[in-house]
Amino acid sequence: MSGERKGYLDSAYAVEDAESTRNLYKDWAATYEEEVRANGYVTPTRCAHALANLAVNSSAPLLDLGCGTGLSGEAFKAAGFETIDGSDFSEEMLAYARAKPGVYRNLIHADLHNPLPASAGDYAHIAAVGVFSPSHAPAEMIDQVIALLPPGGCFVFSLNDHALEDPSYDQRIGALSDAATAEVAFREYGEHLPARGIKAVVCVLRKLRGDIPQFAPV
Ligand SMILES: C[S@@+](CC[C@H](N)C(=O)[O-])C[C@H]1O[C@@H](n2cnc3c(N)ncnc32)[C@H](O)[C@@H]1O
Repeated sequence: MSGERKGYLDSAYAVEDAESTRNLYKDWAATYEEEVRANGYVTPTRCAHALANLAVNSSAPLLDLGCGTGLSGEAFKAAGFETIDGSDFSEEMLAYARAKPGVYRNLIHADLHNPLPASAGDYAHIAAVGVFSPSHAPAEMIDQVIALLPPGGCFVFSLNDHALEDPSYDQRIGALSDAATAEVAFREYGEHLPARGIKAVVCVLRKLRGDIPQFAPV
């Protein structure tokens, strides 16, 4: 961040509901990339490499949930994924993603608190990079994503140190694994925003079979 310009990173960890989250990204859209890059944001690249290294079919369509300005889409593109759709509930963030030629096939305005903007089988891979936190997207979304994937399909996502304080995400991962509905194909704790000393788990869940255990509130 340069000079007097206001930073929003700390606010991102303080928002408590969907409306304040949407307002945050409305204000942050113009300076989001500058601020996260200045803090060494490496999670899009980590997620893209984690998925690509599993030798998945990079020609099959990928849905980038909470795509924001498109940093995550750019990372998947650079890792070889050819067909990427993005979705976000911030029109202001989406406007920056739209301005990036050749990254996204479609960009969809959608709130992750509603049913996901896809039908079962539309996507072989789904991503949520820098998206999971209690005010952004609930843990139930993990079940919804797995329900949309075909067997063998992968969901790659990150959980930063703040999200890891909420046990509900790991509880959903554990429940899906215990039921053999999905397996953890990759999990690594590493850098997220190194200039801030914030780390993140990057996780890839691979769907094993069709049925989803009923979500139990935690
Ligand atoms: C930290 S940014 C990550 C953006 C991008 N994936 C990246 O890695 O740069 C989080 C994004 O999630 C979006 N988001 C947060 N809550 C959401 C919700 N309930 N529905 C849809 N998008 C949401 C925000 O608008 C924002 O663009």
